[in-house]
Amino acid sequence: MAKPGKDPRLEQRRILVIDDSAAVCAALEVLFALHGARVIGAGSPGEGLAALRDEPVDLVIQDMNFRREATTGEEGVALFHDIRRAYPDLPIVLMTAWTHLETAVELVKAGAADYIAKPWDDARLLTTVRNLLDLGRARAEAGVLRRRQREARAALALRFNLCGAVYESEAMHTLIAMATQVAHADVPVLITGPNGSGKEILADIIQANSAVRAGPYVKVNLGALPGELIEAELFGTEAGAFTGARARVGRFEAADGGTLFLDELGNLAAAGQAKLLRVLQTGQFEHLGSNRTRSARVRIVAATNMDLRAAIRSGDFREDLYYRLNVIELEVPPLAARPEDIIPLACHFLEGAHSLSAGAEQALVQYPWPGNVRELRNVIRRACLLSESAEIGAAALSLPALAREPGDAPQPERSAVETALARSAGNVSRAARELGLSRQALYRRMERLGLKSDP
Ligand SMILES: Nc1ncnc2c1ncn2[C@@H]1O[C@H](COP(=O)(O)OP(=O)(O)OP(=O)(O)O)[C@@H](O)[C@H]1O
Ligand SMILES: [Mg+2]
Repeated sequence: MAKPGKDPRLEQRRILVIDDSAAVCAALEVLFALHGARVIGAGSPGEGLAALRDEPVDLVIQDMNFRREATTGEEGVALFHDIRRAYPDLPIVLMTAWTHLETAVELVKAGAADYIAKPWDDARLLTTVRNLLDLGRARAEAGVLRRRQREARAALALRFNLCGAVYESEAMHTLIAMATQVAHADVPVLITGPNGSGKEILADIIQANSAVRAGPYVKVNLGALPGELIEAELFGTEAGAFTGARARVGRFEAADGGTLFLDELGNLAAAGQAKLLRVLQTGQFEHLGSNRTRSARVRIVAATNMDLRAAIRSGDFREDLYYRLNVIELEVPPLAARPEDIIPLACHFLEGAHSLSAGAEQALVQYPWPGNVRELRNVIRRACLLSESAEIGAAALSLPALAREPGDAPQPERSAVETALARSAGNVSRAARELGLSRQALYRRMERLGLKSDP
């Protein structure tokens, strides 16, 4: 028998018990009253649904059969669905005979529900109810938070040009909000982050919301240019400055009054770094092969996937230039660090012509994405081209078999473990196989969840 006393997780909670047996209702009323919770009794599904309409309830405990002669559990299933439809997040505990465990297990899979076998064990019932109440509260709070985040994202998209960036994660929201804030200031911005993570799209957002957005927007990929051409490209040349050189306007001049995006900044060699520093400090530069000093007013946005601090330590990057450029540093997280963005991005790249199967979605979320958003885009494009049906399955994605770091594997939730154990009648090896875990891993998981192997 559970010890009575104050229980902050149960106090003031309202529990609706729907059971045709007055004795069951009375017993539960006493049990929960001992812990400070209030029980509302209902003798039939109709009464139960009416009670739900009448007053707010935190959790429902429901029977599966409501007439003496009924044993199929059908009424209980119907009631469960009725409640779910009207109150999708309301936690439900199913009271069921061992003979109907299968049915209960099926229902519980939908979430926010659990089952308990009749005759019940008080301690176990209390634990189940406490856990579901906590879960219900967490869900309600998460729902409020999600709604607020969605509103904040919508507000940002209304006020600023987000250049088609797709995201769902709080990390990206914060980063993009910051980009829109720094956009109008006349300071250089350094964008860091791994390959294909979206650095360029962030640069586009800064440009599109800057005071100089009507001016030119010039992009230079310093990684794609041979070292000896970079300076000519950036600062321009006079005819004959070097063999075969024609007179050319550099990118700095071309970007005068606008924005210059210096991509792959880490590839700029020492001479180029010195000249870049000077332009940043004075706005002045010369064409190669000329002594005439020119000037340009340019907003600089630079990007790199290199660790510039390490490059400074090794003497490959000027520290003074680094501090000039990173007045504001925006760090784009790798895609795997913001899994909420994966499916929205995938759907964006599908362009409406295809859809993803549940298995494909799962595979996408679990893949570690070393090539980040660009890799995701390529995977989806390839699958769209090769897929013969409108729905893309996991196999059609042909994701390389890259394993995540050990220990990163998602842990099955309590309900999944309990379901697997119930289905295997407590046989841990069988349950482990179903969950895709080793027997030892399942034991560890059960221990952490406080579960015993015999149901
Ligand atoms: N949040 C996003 N929403 C929509 N498209 C995105 C997003 N992030 C990245 N992309 C797309 O993914 C591709 C790669 O992004 P981007 O070129 O900005 O990455 P990058 O960080 O500059 O990569 P690299 O380091 O290789 O230059 C582009 O086609 C870009 O449009
Ligand atoms: Mg890029």
